[in-house]
Amino acid sequence: MGFHTFDPERADRLEDATRFRFCSREELLGPLPRGPDATVLDVGSGTGFYTDEIAPFVGRVLALDVQREMHGKYHTKGIPANVSPVTANAESLPLADGTVGGAFSTMTFHESTTPDALAELKRVLTASAPFVVVDWSGDGSGESGPPVEERFDAERARDLLTDAGFTVETDEERSETFRVVARA
Ligand SMILES: C[S@@+](CC[C@H](N)C(=O)[O-])C[C@H]1O[C@@H](n2cnc3c(N)ncnc32)[C@H](O)[C@@H]1O
Repeated sequence: MGFHTFDPERADRLEDATRFRFCSREELLGPLPRGPDATVLDVGSGTGFYTDEIAPFVGRVLALDVQREMHGKYHTKGIPANVSPVTANAESLPLADGTVGGAFSTMTFHESTTPDALAELKRVLTASAPFVVVDWSGDGSGESGPPVEERFDAERARDLLTDAGFTVETDEERSETFRVVARA
């Protein structure tokens, strides 16, 4: 893993609606496949705060998290019928090759990303499937989110994704976060 993994004891913070200041449903949904046949993967789903936003628009969301406690919190909140929790490390996905039509990851890239994790993601995605990343930026102030020294930025994310064989379509820095859209 990149840096420390989010503490499940602080999971309530992930359910704070003011988080939409930093990442909206629309910017995640835009590049993703939609409709009943679409299966998408949420890399580091936590309590499902953003998973729940995407679920109504796709056939199935695979909610990947390495911490069983996070899925426990999500169960307590209520998991939509078309969301399947997957408890596994991003470096070893229990999913078949080329079976996932798109992926997204919110505020997790700095925790979960290693070359092995990106290779795994590429393996399970269909050809040209989108991967949308929004995460805290090292160019941010650090007022919210993890310490600045633990964060990546858009350029680093682009380089990691490119090295893993993804084609980066867009990358942007904002005030506190960055967003990258890449294709497998
Ligand atoms: C900061 S939380 C963000 C959760 C969610 N994406 C959100 O925005 O509400 C990061 C989550 O990623 C999970 N995570 C970190 N590293 C991971 C890995 N290598 N594989 C799978 N999940 C991971 C953590 O357990 C945690 O639940």
